[in-house]
Amino acid sequence: MSLIEEVIILPKDGKISDSVIRRLPRYYRFLGELLEEGITKISSGELSRRMKLTASQIRQDLNCFGGFGQQGYGYNVSELRNEIGGIIGIDKQIGTILVGAGNLGRAVALHLNFEKNGCRLLGVFDSNPDLTGVVLGKIKISHVSELEKFCKENKPGIAILCIPRDGAKELCDKLIELDIRSFWNFSHYDINLEYENIIVENVHLGDSLVTLTYRTNNQ
Ligand code: NAI
Repeated sequence: MSLIEEVIILPKDGKISDSVIRRLPRYYRFLGELLEEGITKISSGELSRRMKLTASQIRQDLNCFGGFGQQGYGYNVSELRNEIGGIIGIDKQIGTILVGAGNLGRAVALHLNFEKNGCRLLGVFDSNPDLTGVVLGKIKISHVSELEKFCKENKPGIAILCIPRDGAKELCDKLIELDIRSFWNFSHYDINLEYENIIVENVHLGDSLVTLTYRTNNQ
């Protein structure tokens, strides 16, 4: 018998709202940190206090996926984390390539834990022939001319773009032709404007800094 007493409100069209999706990584990371602290169960009140979200917000979010809390018990941290990991698809380990092995590309390739975030870095590419064969962590940089062969053999699902705006459109055309549908886009090229049915996460570190500047100036 289910101990879940909350009303489960599933989205009418079966789609999870973007704002809930954007909170998922934070839940996942936060629950992992709780486990590292040895916390195995937590009440929704305590979770909300620690995450600085309202308990009702947390319940609503988790209800989108079927609700995991048990009345009078709270949440089993490990179970909830596994459920959220399953929803994200963390274990699928999507094959990923990175293009542009300059300062930014090297930092991303070397310092990001891809596996922990649901991806596996398969290859790094750059147009500068001087970088071909240079070892980056466990991966040797390949020349971009190898992209087609590599993608046909390895079928990566995600491309990380760490190149300047110039040349980004041409590269995207190529990658989309090679069946890549998801982009983690650090280049300042606006992929979404050009293509349909492409999933893009744009990263603009500068925007985050500008937000901080605004907030600092408008305390
Ligand atoms: P960088 O000049 O150190 O590296 C760029 C690398 O991309 C070079 O190795 C170059 O050979 C390669 N490249 C250029 N065009 C290419 C192409 N069509 N195909 C394959 N490789 C290509 O520059 P850095 O500092 O790594 O920055 C890269 C880009 O990212 C810059 O345009 C910069 O504006 C942007 N950027 C974006 C940030 C963000 O938050 N979105 C933050 C920092 C930089």
